[in-house]
Amino acid sequence: MIKPESIENLKSLIDIADVIGNYVQLKKQGSNFVALCPFHSEKTPSFVVSPSKQIYHCFGCGASGDAIKFIMEIEKLTYPEAIEKLASMYNFKLEYTKGNSFVHIDLLERVNSFYISNLYKNQNALNYLKQRGLFDSTIEKFQLGYAPSSQEQFKFFKDANLNKKDLIELGVLNDSGEYPRLIERITFPIFSQSGKIIAFGGRTITNHPAKYINFTNTKIFNKSKTFYGLNFAREHILRSKRIIITEGYMDVIMLHQAGIQNAVATLGTALTREHLPILRKLNPKVTLSYDSDTAGINAALKASKLLYKEYFDGGVILFGEGEDPADAVAKGKNIEEILKNEIKFADFIIEYMTKKYDLKNPVEKKQAIDEFRNYINELPDILKDDFSIKVSQYLQIPPNILKVRTNHMQNLNLNKKIDVAEASIVKTLYENPNLMDEIIEYLSPQMFNTHFEELDAVYKEDFENPKLLEIVLRDDIKSLDIKTLKNQIRKLLIPYYQKKMLEIKYSKTLNNEEKMHYLKKINLKLLKLKKGELVESDIPV
Ligand code: UTP
Ligand code: MN
Repeated sequence: MIKPESIENLKSLIDIADVIGNYVQLKKQGSNFVALCPFHSEKTPSFVVSPSKQIYHCFGCGASGDAIKFIMEIEKLTYPEAIEKLASMYNFKLEYTKGNSFVHIDLLERVNSFYISNLYKNQNALNYLKQRGLFDSTIEKFQLGYAPSSQEQFKFFKDANLNKKDLIELGVLNDSGEYPRLIERITFPIFSQSGKIIAFGGRTITNHPAKYINFTNTKIFNKSKTFYGLNFAREHILRSKRIIITEGYMDVIMLHQAGIQNAVATLGTALTREHLPILRKLNPKVTLSYDSDTAGINAALKASKLLYKEYFDGGVILFGEGEDPADAVAKGKNIEEILKNEIKFADFIIEYMTKKYDLKNPVEKKQAIDEFRNYINELPDILKDDFSIKVSQYLQIPPNILKVRTNHMQNLNLNKKIDVAEASIVKTLYENPNLMDEIIEYLSPQMFNTHFEELDAVYKEDFENPKLLEIVLRDDIKSLDIKTLKNQIRKLLIPYYQKKMLEIKYSKTLNNEEKMHYLKKINLKLLKLKKGELVESDIPV
């Protein structure tokens, strides 16, 4: 941990106008500075920096805070990372509390230098990397090295006066301290987001049965919360709003070499729930590019299910048979082109979940449907409909077969066979086609929870539609007069737009400006609806 006194000393050194001036053009106005707000888009400046109060505030979007908050927001860093960034801007040496990071990280840096110097002494190792297509500049950028024999390493640890307990604690030595974890392997330092070494991975060049060995988790390294290469990729991810997630060290390295600098890898584990907060912060479109072998496809399926459920936009890239991104780069393939052929998460999930089953066999088809139903059950309500419709189209089954019990958020009538409110709207329009032109402006089928297919059929004048006929023929569903009809629609639209607001809030495809625009629009609609008016349906789905 960084010592609190050290943070205070740093704070007393920094000037907010100075810090923010590195990111936006400040103009003096009285005792303050003003600028165009970097957190929302605007044409006239409403972003004010106060040197006397050492704070910033935007009168447009409400963003405010001190210099540290500014760095956190603009660089998307955590608090300690922002402190470290500021410290480096001011050439300030932070002090860390004892027993943690500072000494240790320094220790790993020293081990790294040792491994690097050994790479250049070992022609075999160097040849191996060259043979795999790595440029010198790539080897340097990723600080690849070579871990020599156990004996040579212990000699170095002794000469360099490195503490055995620390070496064990940080994973360089095995738990009993008898041998180094990486022996006669190419070494890959694993960096934290801010670029400090937190662990190593190593690849055999002598066909050892364990192709890769990674450090086990230590107090500064947690495999399931770390992306390899993120320190290099971060700014490219923010700029391109896309992250390419691969399976391995070599994939990241080769992709970066090929100019795809927003690539990272998970570390010998699948993508886990613990990785998601990091992703959420960067807020990118996520592209999984895994090996196209069975293991890779299964990992991609698992990760897609997780990401889709958690509202991430993105998809999966499948490389050629038995090929991974590193191979594709080594073969000189056009990666940019390959990256265009991403299969969207929902489509990938549906296609690959289905692949396990022979749909011609009714028993297996039922199993497939059951598996989908279970997954749909896990989805948040606002994704359920979309996904079910896609599945029903793919499996060529009616969507209601996939219906699962929904929770409180959705229309309670869903559990019943028929939604009377929706059904009576459908029936009214069926019996009074002259109303259709007017109503279609306010009400579109996707606004319905249950009878969307029937409403669609009325609009399309598909009067033979069996589900539509079912409603039309029911005596307990009454046709409404125009006033009641409008009122009924209004009552449906309120929860619809409320749900829509949520969707827009969590949308991964809209930028902040678009979100603000739509949220404002919907807010107005809700106001009108609550006052008893109907509103046009002009929000995209
Ligand atoms: P792969 O087997 O796909 O490795 O494992 P790779 O990156 O294609 O290896 P190269 O190209 O032959 O060098 C992907 C990742 O799984 C972990 C490593 O993190 C590796 O990068 N792994 C793999 C292990 O931890 N141990 C292993 O024995 C193999
Ligand atoms: Mn691979």
